[in-house]
Amino acid sequence: MALLYKSDPDRGRRWQALFAEHAPDIEFRQWPDIGDPAEIRYLLAWQPPAEIATLLPNLYVLFATSAGIDQFDTSILPEALPVVRMLDPAIEQGMIEYATFATLWLHRHMADYVRQQRQHQWQARMITPAGERRLGILGLGQLGGAIARHLAGYGFQVSGWARTAREIPGVTAYAGVEALDAFLAECDILICVLPLTDATRGVLDRKLFERLPTGASLINMGRGEHLVEADLTAALATGQLCGAVLDVLREEPPAADHPFWQDPRILMTPHVGAMTQPDTAFPVLLENLRRHQRGETMLGCVDRQRGY
Ligand code: GLV
Repeated sequence: MALLYKSDPDRGRRWQALFAEHAPDIEFRQWPDIGDPAEIRYLLAWQPPAEIATLLPNLYVLFATSAGIDQFDTSILPEALPVVRMLDPAIEQGMIEYATFATLWLHRHMADYVRQQRQHQWQARMITPAGERRLGILGLGQLGGAIARHLAGYGFQVSGWARTAREIPGVTAYAGVEALDAFLAECDILICVLPLTDATRGVLDRKLFERLPTGASLINMGRGEHLVEADLTAALATGQLCGAVLDVLREEPPAADHPFWQDPRILMTPHVGAMTQPDTAFPVLLENLRRHQRGETMLGCVDRQRGY
């Protein structure tokens, strides 16, 4: 029985050592050295091979190395193949850290201070107390919920929106499309951690920005395709939005002449919000492999119809 790994080769070496030490009954193979494809029962991948159905005829489960699975073309996957997303605690921790950093960057006007320093200007802006700053988390699942709980601890007013109702102590939760307007009207800083699906593609657009309070800011740590980039440029130009932190872009890296490179109100980072760490992800994966071998339900199974 073999597991094929197809993702970052450097981290692959660590995965290999962890399998050798803790699960020697499962043979670890690293793409492109797949050996006899008939023996491969599990695939652990950022992106599965295009010809997956014919190349790996005996596959039991596709495990994503990532929290999001939108990069999978589900139309080429065998219909009954279970797809499992990565629930590495290091991803949750990374997302909490990034959301905290980006929130504080915006809350404490850091873009202004970076610009001022370049111009040799020494000028303080008033501090808004955290209790007067309203944060809104768009997407209140496992990651959004963890971010909301953490940021509530700083004393911010935190609310969150999800398709279905969630209860998080200290967080005002909104649910369903009919509650979206009320949620958006109270977001000084909007943090997008939605999964990317056909329903959420392009959700961060002009119409949504107009429903935020004037002068709000945006943090996108979901996927680049959530954002209509030209609408952000327009909203910054009118002052409807005053700043943005973007960890994800439609095209990564963005083209050399992309306007965001030059815009001092936008902080861009190269999709580094969180990274799967083999040492913390391995126990999660192994638990699922053992569950699968025992015929039990695995953790993090994707509802392929829903798309996350
Ligand atoms: C990274 O973007 C992930 O989905 O884990």
